[in-house]
Amino acid sequence: MTALTDLHEQIKRCQDCDLAKNRTKVVPGEGPDNAALLFIGEAPGWHEDQQGRPFVGPAGQFLEELLSTIGLKRDQVFIANVIKCRPPANRDPLPGEIQSCKKWLDRQIELIQPKVVITLGRYSMARYFPNQSISKIHGKAKKEGELTYYAMYHPAAALHQGSLRKIIEADMLKIPQLLVQAGKLTETETETQQLSLF
Ligand code: URA
Repeated sequence: MTALTDLHEQIKRCQDCDLAKNRTKVVPGEGPDNAALLFIGEAPGWHEDQQGRPFVGPAGQFLEELLSTIGLKRDQVFIANVIKCRPPANRDPLPGEIQSCKKWLDRQIELIQPKVVITLGRYSMARYFPNQSISKIHGKAKKEGELTYYAMYHPAAALHQGSLRKIIEADMLKIPQLLVQAGKLTETETETQQLSLF
């Protein structure tokens, strides 16, 4: 068992907040243990709670479409959430829930050691770009040590809004260049869409 699989087993047993009472399945996240790209959404919705997998509903389908525009499949990236259990009726996560779940995402990042962390929506953005507004910082990257952080709109928000959809599509197209800057891809690979990330 890898350290990440072991961590995910621990996450599945978590009882640290009240969300444990109503969940069907915990959604730790999924992807390669050494993924270069880590996407972080908000919290599982109905579909994710049923399946125990992140981004498997309509927002997930759109995320997969977006990934395909840069030549990637979802199993080449790691997909996680700020919150690992579904809030009842998809309400916004509470501050206490975010706080008690923080340790899990922090440990995932330590183990995966991604090159680029991509925040999807305001909850994950708030963690890495405090006091910022998504309309100002989407599509912009910041580097802290070895790690690049990059903020995007949430696919669920962009899916049905023409103007946001164009923005999220354009922001996705900038990701290969972030991998070039992080030394993970060559320019040629980005041009041919042969993204051999591993
Ligand atoms: N929205 C999220 O933020 N995360 C999921 O896993 C699904 C939808």
